[in-house]
Amino acid sequence: MSDPIVDIHTHVYTPAYLAMLRARKKVPYVHDPANGADSRLIILASDDDSSTPLDQRGRPVDASYSDIEVKLAFMRRHGITTSVISLANPWLDFLEVDDAQVWSERINNDLENTCAKVNKDTGTTSNVKTLYAFGALPLSAPDPSIIVNEINRLKTLPHMRGVIMGTSGLGKGLDDPALDPVWAALEETQTLLFLHPHYGLPDEAFGGPEVTQRYGHVLPLALGFPLETTIAVTRMLLSGVFDRFSNLKVLLAHSGGTLPFLAGRIESCIAHERKFVANGGSTQGPVRDVWTVLNTNIYLDAVVYGEAGLKAAIHAAGGHERLLFGTDNPFFPPLSEGDVAWPSVTTNYKAIEGTLSTDKEAIRAVLGGNAIRILNLN
Ligand code: URA
Ligand code: ZN
Repeated sequence: MSDPIVDIHTHVYTPAYLAMLRARKKVPYVHDPANGADSRLIILASDDDSSTPLDQRGRPVDASYSDIEVKLAFMRRHGITTSVISLANPWLDFLEVDDAQVWSERINNDLENTCAKVNKDTGTTSNVKTLYAFGALPLSAPDPSIIVNEINRLKTLPHMRGVIMGTSGLGKGLDDPALDPVWAALEETQTLLFLHPHYGLPDEAFGGPEVTQRYGHVLPLALGFPLETTIAVTRMLLSGVFDRFSNLKVLLAHSGGTLPFLAGRIESCIAHERKFVANGGSTQGPVRDVWTVLNTNIYLDAVVYGEAGLKAAIHAAGGHERLLFGTDNPFFPPLSEGDVAWPSVTTNYKAIEGTLSTDKEAIRAVLGGNAIRILNLN
């Protein structure tokens, strides 16, 4: 039997979630053009530009975003044996306070049932494809205890292997002390947090809305997303989250954004300013250093599309053991109709093989072994 290949960064919009987006008229929403063309997924603030005709805003959304059979076909095509599926951005961040709990339970139950059904159906064939999931949290719920309850409930669902979350937290970012009960619950249940960007940077960072629009999704996705992740995890570090919750486990999307490259600089700046003035007083800076946190609390996906980024990630993580293969499917589909292989996948395979070429054991670990160990997959 060939070696397992595990994709830990692969998204779905469940049918119920897509139906909810279809009923909305403001970001995030799905628009169905009258001419029967592919629906449009309008989720980023920069997608909803009024100078762009509605039928062309955002990106096309086809069955690959929600049909699990299409996901399984994608896995077969690329030799992926196991996927840990997660709801895609912006998760449940935008829901009204009273809707968050019911939607998180609905989405998480749907994900759990999908995994159970797929694993049962394929379990008897030689072409086994296995699914697990990361759950979504009701972050806009009126009380953090509702989030904590869902973290505890997810522990009882057999296919759940962690939670996916964006960078806004309860609305004030991830250095918000009000998140402490959430960090405590994640730590106590040893639930892995998959931290993923969505909001990017303000248009002003790129030269204004016209400039952002001019280049489509390139600036928000190539630069906004990784910097958003870097800023979010740095705010966690600065506010001492990893001191107070030293057993927290966080998987960073896109190889940590730019964290591996900037870790030395971040640590140097902290070293020169151990005390911060925050909340009107003098606050002790983080005690555990960036490298220790990278080597004990942080895991990185290998979704970085190139050897320079992957080498930085492996170095920052203290070796290849904390790196996990991913694809970001269904985003970044093939560029030409009829293409079978997704370049977003083959580029990541190539970067892993190019970087670790002589170390076959390490390649096997990044492609699957690490995920099996870290996420306790069968
Ligand atoms: N674009 C998104 O909106 N989300 C992803 O995860 C990848 C690309
Ligand atoms: Zn993603």
